[in-house]
Amino acid sequence: MGGSAPRYPRSPLKANGDEMSEFPAEADLEALGEEIPLLEGIRTTRSIRRLKPDPVPRALIRKVCEAGTFAPSGGNRQPWVFVAVDDRDKRRWVAERYLPVFRDYIQPSIERGEREHFPQPLMRNMRSALHLAEHLDEVPVLLFIAGFTRRGERQSQALFPCTQNILLACRAVGLGASFTMLHLSFGKECDRMLGLPDNIPSAAMIPIGWPLGKYGRPPRASVDSKLFFNEFDASTLGAERPIE
Ligand SMILES: Cc1cc2nc3c(=O)[nH]c(=O)nc-3n(C[C@H](O)[C@H](O)[C@H](O)COP(=O)(O)O)c2cc1C
Repeated sequence: MGGSAPRYPRSPLKANGDEMSEFPAEADLEALGEEIPLLEGIRTTRSIRRLKPDPVPRALIRKVCEAGTFAPSGGNRQPWVFVAVDDRDKRRWVAERYLPVFRDYIQPSIERGEREHFPQPLMRNMRSALHLAEHLDEVPVLLFIAGFTRRGERQSQALFPCTQNILLACRAVGLGASFTMLHLSFGKECDRMLGLPDNIPSAAMIPIGWPLGKYGRPPRASVDSKLFFNEFDASTLGAERPIE
């Protein structure tokens, strides 16, 4: 690979860069993911929603949750609680409720996109989200991120840095993952099923499994169309704008 070409370091589990091989029993979970440079990992983390049903070791779930615990939080209160659901019946319970809601939400957009020829990356994104919804019961781990309320209010914002750390850690160790919140449409019922009390509601769910696809750069507008120094300029918002 040339010196200036972007490198996409593979985890030890993705030696050929393609399909994940069988998880080797002797894999060194402590070393897994530690070799990936931080910024490169950030740039190559995307929603991976096509996942194999193969089990994920609990030690790896612990490892990615540990990365979550290094997130900042107001006053360092560390309000997060993780419930990793790998029980088949509980996963099916979630999937049965997630799918109809998600289908109602996304199907009209997919149909409109087909009629109006939305850009392919957007269509791919919507179809992969629907695929996840249709196969949620096959995903080996549904990781719920919950957190203590403050003065009776849900504190989702306090949990999102933690959630992003977990997504990055999944990328580092070679697991596929994505950020979802749709379970909140049946959130109270779901929290009861998870044994979460009213003062620790869930805020996000990360379906985790071994990826069928590859990590890579997600489609993003250039930072040059988003970054302003000292003063925002609406006339150039969205335009590609080289920084002098
Ligand atoms: C607040 C929030 C809620 C989201 N909810 C869902 C969801 O319910 N289902 C889903 O499949 N993806 C969900 N996503 C993932 C986004 O769709 C995804 O990050 C976005 O399309 C960009 O795709 P990428 O991550 O592959 O770059 C959510 C993301 C965020 C930040």
